[in-house]
Amino acid sequence: MRTPFVAGNWKMHKTLGEGLELVRGIRERVKPGLKVNVAVCPPFTLLHAISKEIEGSAIRLGAQNVNWEAKGAFTGDISASMLLDAGCTYAIIGHSERRHVFGETNEMLAKKVPAAMEAGLEVIYCVGETLEEHEAGRTQAVVAAQLDEVIKGDLDPTKLTIAYEPVWAIGTGKTARPDQAQWVHVFVRGKLAGIFNESAANSMVIQYGGSVKPGNAGELMSCPDVDGALVGGACLVAEDFAAIIAAAAEASA
Ligand code: PGA
Repeated sequence: MRTPFVAGNWKMHKTLGEGLELVRGIRERVKPGLKVNVAVCPPFTLLHAISKEIEGSAIRLGAQNVNWEAKGAFTGDISASMLLDAGCTYAIIGHSERRHVFGETNEMLAKKVPAAMEAGLEVIYCVGETLEEHEAGRTQAVVAAQLDEVIKGDLDPTKLTIAYEPVWAIGTGKTARPDQAQWVHVFVRGKLAGIFNESAANSMVIQYGGSVKPGNAGELMSCPDVDGALVGGACLVAEDFAAIIAAAAEASA
């Protein structure tokens, strides 16, 4: 039985005051004892303050990116130990905006994932095909390469979450149909069984991401292999994020 995991990717949104207000709203609505793991992933500047604000709650903290080196001359980047120091449990790695806007390659991500995990972070590793790849019927090939080239069998599968985020569904208001999401999630789980083993793969959480909203969360979360969500836009409103968390709880009850 997998515990669903809903994470909010705040992207480049919220100043300190706005972020504190949002996380207080989430905290009020996410009661301890809920059978869903919940994380918020604010911008770096807010991590420390938000970690204080969620102390004693069931909400965990994640970062949106991490460098593979422990320290050094990497202007603008941040290390795993800095994120741990700021209170992070998780790092999102390989988000499509990092891949497609900032040019991160599977080769770079293959350095980030083990470095983050060795330092003690849990990783949410994102995979997903672009619209062009989707229309060309290349979804499985793209996702397979994103997994094969980055996720190696010597990583600890209990510290790894996969987020399947079709790029054509991110921030577009278009969501994969539940059957489309389920189909890719089954494919991802099969790949994970090959990389690790079947029992590890069956225990791993595979989140869906891409325009998840309160109105579509229920049907997505009720797919047997969809174990939660990586939420962008809708996580910026406490009520909406809480409604998605509630949908995940309900689907797994
Ligand atoms: P969205 O973003 O929910 O706004 O589509 C999801 C994501 O990028 O993780």
